[in-house]
Amino acid sequence: MHTNLPSWISKEFKETKSGLVVDGVVLNKLTEIIKPPFFIYSATDIKNRYQDLEKALKSSGIKLYYSVKANSLLSILNGLVFLGSGLEVASIGELELAIKIKVNPSKVSFAGPVKTESELESAIRFGIKTINAESFVEIERINAIAKRLGKKQVIGIRVNPLKQVNKAGGLMGGGSQKFGIDFEKITQREVDKIRSLPNVELSGLHVFSATQILTPKEFINNLENTCRIARDLNNLYKIKYIDFGGGLGIPYFSNEHALDIKDLSNKIKTILAKFPFIKANNTSLYLEPGRYIVGSSGIYVVRVDHVKDSRGITYVMVDGGWQHMMRTSPSMPFGQHPIYNLSKPNKLKMKKFDIGGSLCTSVDMLGKSIKLPFNTQEGDLIGVFNAGAYGRNQSPIDFLSHPTPSEVLVGKGEYVLARRSEGTERITRVQPETKTNLFKP
Ligand SMILES: Cc1ncc(COP(=O)(O)O)c(C=O)c1O
Repeated sequence: MHTNLPSWISKEFKETKSGLVVDGVVLNKLTEIIKPPFFIYSATDIKNRYQDLEKALKSSGIKLYYSVKANSLLSILNGLVFLGSGLEVASIGELELAIKIKVNPSKVSFAGPVKTESELESAIRFGIKTINAESFVEIERINAIAKRLGKKQVIGIRVNPLKQVNKAGGLMGGGSQKFGIDFEKITQREVDKIRSLPNVELSGLHVFSATQILTPKEFINNLENTCRIARDLNNLYKIKYIDFGGGLGIPYFSNEHALDIKDLSNKIKTILAKFPFIKANNTSLYLEPGRYIVGSSGIYVVRVDHVKDSRGITYVMVDGGWQHMMRTSPSMPFGQHPIYNLSKPNKLKMKKFDIGGSLCTSVDMLGKSIKLPFNTQEGDLIGVFNAGAYGRNQSPIDFLSHPTPSEVLVGKGEYVLARRSEGTERITRVQPETKTNLFKP
């Protein structure tokens, strides 16, 4: 592709004479075996980012619980658990994935604004470390289920803070929210009520205010605000853990800068030192990053089907699209991912193209006004970078019933087909043959 990749693009993506090499695997060769569209993830990138973050946060005593929703591929979960990560799950499906890889239940937490009876029962049976409850109704439900199972379940309160993060990719806390319990509603009376429930142990709190925070100051302010909330609540019940949620951002645009994790870690230590109750209580501290760990590891690879003009705009039409990689669509609020032609030198004469996918909807665009080589043509490979987090996991995979993308995990020159593409059998599998009776007169 011969382009100057921005410095923050993963070091595991190298340009060579044979084209792009991803963590030691030549992409062109791989496409002879596994057909695009597919996601390719670098295991080395994930490992390095996890370990660098873990190392940086060690001296502040913060432990990592990877947020499964960012990318729930079993082989990635397995790898991260092998490296020592805990897991934050937010649905029965994510819990099942955690169970499948035989993670120690004491390293799994459960978040999510609606947790059904059966989800809670599965989590409690599993022996999950903690459930971060998001309403008083949920707490009573947990108590009733735990009682039925003859257990006592550790819980925390997911608190909706008053303050909002100023600059972030998306807000989940502050002001009015569907998430958590408003801070001011957690009174001594409510806490006493929770304490009187015999089958729950109120132990900590969870605050997740925003995702994709790229400004160190915002991250630190938010962390300090959570510590203040914890200090206030510590007057009502002993805070044995604080879960700071996720939120560490990654750059998507060339004018954005990567977070300096070592510097951030020093700042975190300074903030924590301002709250002596943390040391006095021996409070455990957790962070649940998703995007930061897996975001940069992935590329969504599609092939150009054809190129066509329509009234002044040239469209590069590709064989994948929104149903696999919704995030990058210009109709979404998340922002454009970096996109390159992986088959042609991106340094020569460039031209602006709109990149359209195969769905019958105008929101199915991978990008608008994307600079690609002027001679981009049928058969070229196009790569959407930074596709490791919230890629397939956040996309409307069933829309138009296309086959799903393959997902390939590569590391040090080897690859594994982590999830194969499913064709039409997927669409019919869980639908029993329907009789026409309901339509008869
Ligand atoms: C409860 C919870 N924790 C952690 C995360 C991960 O956030 P991020 O990918 O911004 O680190 C999310 C994402 O939505 C979440 O809902």
